[in-house]
Amino acid sequence: MSKNYELIEVSKQGKLGLIALNRPKVLNAINRPMVSEILDAMENFEADSSVRAIVLSGKGRAFAAGADIDEMANDNAIDFELRNQFKDWDRLAMIKKPIIGAVQGFALGGGFELALCCDMLYAADDAEFGFPEVNLGVMPGAGGTQRLTKLVGKTRAMEWLFTGKRISAREALHCGIVNTLIAKELLLEETIKAAELIANQAPVSIRFIKEAVLKSVDTPLNEGMELERKNFYLLFSTEDQKEGMRAFIEKRKPEFKGK
Ligand code: CAA
Repeated sequence: MSKNYELIEVSKQGKLGLIALNRPKVLNAINRPMVSEILDAMENFEADSSVRAIVLSGKGRAFAAGADIDEMANDNAIDFELRNQFKDWDRLAMIKKPIIGAVQGFALGGGFELALCCDMLYAADDAEFGFPEVNLGVMPGAGGTQRLTKLVGKTRAMEWLFTGKRISAREALHCGIVNTLIAKELLLEETIKAAELIANQAPVSIRFIKEAVLKSVDTPLNEGMELERKNFYLLFSTEDQKEGMRAFIEKRKPEFKGK
């Protein structure tokens, strides 16, 4: 990747786009320029047809210990409003390619919110999640109360948000926040392997599946079903559907083109 980023590290590996948060000295605290860089890298990967999935990780001992407290300590409500503080976050949620997160160490506050923007999460056994905003006299602002509640239900979300307590990797697995736990030293390698499997699937299927699953989170069943059906029908206008089914019948591996 030719672009120079200061706060993240970006590379390509086969069909994967890799993004690593890179402010390890402050546990990858997420400041506004970092969100812009993440969004820019994601949008470049979105536009790059050779990239089929994105892996998001953090360098050092944390995934990210939250939004940068130093940056926002003196902000006021109108600063946020005029700046439209979360506009880049909103665009992150619109990335259509699959995003797989690799979380080691802390994923707190905005770091947890960023992890919750991923479609799947792999975590090291030392990962710790939580929303400590309440200890700072604030609350999550980048989707935390909404995404967490939809994922784990009201009772757990209330407790975690009221107390700011840390959730262990094991509990996060138990509650469905993470897909699987991996030994820390193998985390990135195993996450990349999992992402490669997804990157080798028919890209248009993956795209429409992501759209339909995300739709299910905030629509009534019948509306979600309509989208699912439309996407299902649409996939029958792709070459990959013909190839996938022909390969099954001919007992060989399909070669998907993303068309
Ligand atoms: N913002 C800015 N700097 C941070 C930070 C953050 N969120 N988290 C850690 N750092 C910095 C520390 O200030 C420290 O810097 P110095 O070495 O210059 O002092 C460095 O990272 C290392 O951190 P610690 O020495 O504190 O490391 P530790 O292992 O003792 O503790 C920790 C780790 C428990 C995660 C602790 O750093 C901590 O509590 N961090 C803040 C967590 C937090 O409150 N996050 C929520 C932020 S608000 C938010 O995210 C709002 C939102 O929804 C948008």
